[in-house]
Amino acid sequence: MSSPINTMLIESRVFNPPKEFAAQARISGMAQYSALCEEAARDPDAFWRKMAESELVWRKPFTKVLDESDAPFYTWFEDGELNVSENCLDVHLNNGNADKIAIIFESDDGSVQTVTYGELHARVCRIANGIRALGYGMGDRAILYMPMSVEAIATMQACARLGLVHSVVFGGFSARSLHQRIVDVGARLVLTADAQMRGGRRIPLKEAVDEALGYEGGDVVRNVVVYQRAGGEVQWVEGRDVWLHDLEQNQPEQCEPVSVPAEHPLFVLYTSGSTGKPKGVQHSSAGYLLWTKLTTQWTFDATPEDVFWCTADVGWVTGHSYIVYGALAAGLTQVVFEGVPTYPHAGRYWEMIQRHKVTIFYTAPTAIRSLIKASEQEPMHHPGRYDLSSLRLLGSVGEPINPEAWMWYYENVGASRCPVVDTWWQTETGGHILTPLPGATPLKPGSCTLPLPGIDAAVVDEAGNELPTGAGGLLVIRRPWPAMIRAVWGDPARYRNSYFPEELRGMYMAGDNAQRDEDGYFWILGRTDDVLSVSGHRLGGTEIESALVAHELVAEAAVVGRPDATTGEAVVAFIMLKQAAPAGDEAETIAEYLRDWVAQQVGPIAKPRDIRFGNSLPKTRSGKIMRRLLRLVAEGRDIDQDTSTLENPDVLKQFSGVY
Ligand code: WTA
Repeated sequence: MSSPINTMLIESRVFNPPKEFAAQARISGMAQYSALCEEAARDPDAFWRKMAESELVWRKPFTKVLDESDAPFYTWFEDGELNVSENCLDVHLNNGNADKIAIIFESDDGSVQTVTYGELHARVCRIANGIRALGYGMGDRAILYMPMSVEAIATMQACARLGLVHSVVFGGFSARSLHQRIVDVGARLVLTADAQMRGGRRIPLKEAVDEALGYEGGDVVRNVVVYQRAGGEVQWVEGRDVWLHDLEQNQPEQCEPVSVPAEHPLFVLYTSGSTGKPKGVQHSSAGYLLWTKLTTQWTFDATPEDVFWCTADVGWVTGHSYIVYGALAAGLTQVVFEGVPTYPHAGRYWEMIQRHKVTIFYTAPTAIRSLIKASEQEPMHHPGRYDLSSLRLLGSVGEPINPEAWMWYYENVGASRCPVVDTWWQTETGGHILTPLPGATPLKPGSCTLPLPGIDAAVVDEAGNELPTGAGGLLVIRRPWPAMIRAVWGDPARYRNSYFPEELRGMYMAGDNAQRDEDGYFWILGRTDDVLSVSGHRLGGTEIESALVAHELVAEAAVVGRPDATTGEAVVAFIMLKQAAPAGDEAETIAEYLRDWVAQQVGPIAKPRDIRFGNSLPKTRSGKIMRRLLRLVAEGRDIDQDTSTLENPDVLKQFSGVY
């Protein structure tokens, strides 16, 4: 970052909530925050009961709150029944808000469409009736592979209305990744689009679905519903493929919500872990909905007057929790954007905030960093050139935000008057866990501050003992919370082993390292496993390694992250070919070839930035790849660390060429 700001100075600065903000906030001042925390800690059962009764509409009231008898397989509100879509849509119609705008959709090319709660409800009902007419119902799994669109949101809501379990696959994943998820979740229905439009480019989606269904086991899918977004030719399988507009046509605009048990899986979302196979994170209906609604209201201090904009894609958990479920349950008006932040110019986000009078803006550090760079190169698209006076709150999610980027965001986007909420959470946590409350928490740039009420987070050592101030250790959550992951789809053992290791005696292990400061604030230090964060996207190093070694030229591969000023981390692959390590043009060609291979196997987002070739990989005498050393090599740093445990110390020198 070229900014001359001194990090140490920023880190020691504290920003108190602006008085006017605190005065009107839902949770105002630290005393109110502490009171809520105490209330939740004193009698969690009563606290969660009150929240669930007041925030959600139940079809059958629950009697029991939390059942821990089969820990770590917890259940919440288990004997209650509700419908998630009813809680996101019908409730607003019943409150006289049918004409309130639910979605302001802006497409890649800048055209705008607004959808009221009444219209969204009708659309969801028509799609749900169409899906039902095809023969799908409660408990069936549907895969979605769709662009950011009103249709994607409506389709997810339609699944929820019928009790179908959806699993959204991000459009940046390849046909192979899509296939793996279809088979694992056992989907009989796929919903996709002909193509997506991003930055003026047409990126086919249906084509990838056709390819995925051609691989082994892909024939479990009986129907493919296709939203016509981009036009142009698509292949068609008669009897299997259905246009979304045909599916909806002539369907009634009413569809009775199906009453589902509180623990009925709302969705499965695949995410990278520490093995080559992604984990299907399974979420519940009631507990998940409760927490996403509550956190939308708490963290964003959101009210029905706000215009909320979360820039995440529905393919990731942020899109699920804060676009499709949280924002709708809270009855907000939200902006949904199809495109990318730098098209047609680097001021697109600022222009959109100005155009739609956005009041709450929630984005990822990687976007902020790329826009800092872009506004240095294109000063006419600096945020200062736009009218951003509608903004009252800024948020950040997905990766640590470095203090310099935080300050730039605070000063240039928020004009030093909007609090910045740095929200720490995960696909598995369902919603925010550590975050400032904008009307209460004093902010420290670079820290996600404190746990939300009801969350018992701590930093512990490997035996589960709480660590003192300043000591780095494992970030854990000691008590269950309503939106926590319920299962790894089809693999209970993996759920237990990944998140509840025996040594930690029942605590949830996040997989992040953290430390706390003298005020108890949490500072995230990074992952404990080889999960990488590239442009805010969570990628498994092992997954990319598996893809590489599946190529006939490759004997062994190790993938690590290298810090990158814009994308957070960049993928670096160390590769041993079956032939001797190439150099020069040959290495260039093979590297390009392997990058395309990774794009095909995992997705373009996983393409290695740097490829380095060697005749072996650095290993310990027991045969473990020494990733710690590879990380230093990837960063171009000198190896001053002890290499005495290395079986073959000379190999490191070989990896000097970067392709
Ligand atoms: C990282 C995204 C620091 C962290 C919602 C976590 C963060 C992983 C933050 C989850 C933050 C997310 N500060 N690190 N505010 N938010 N992370 O599942 O390493 O895509 O474990 O969920 O992102 O990524 P996931």
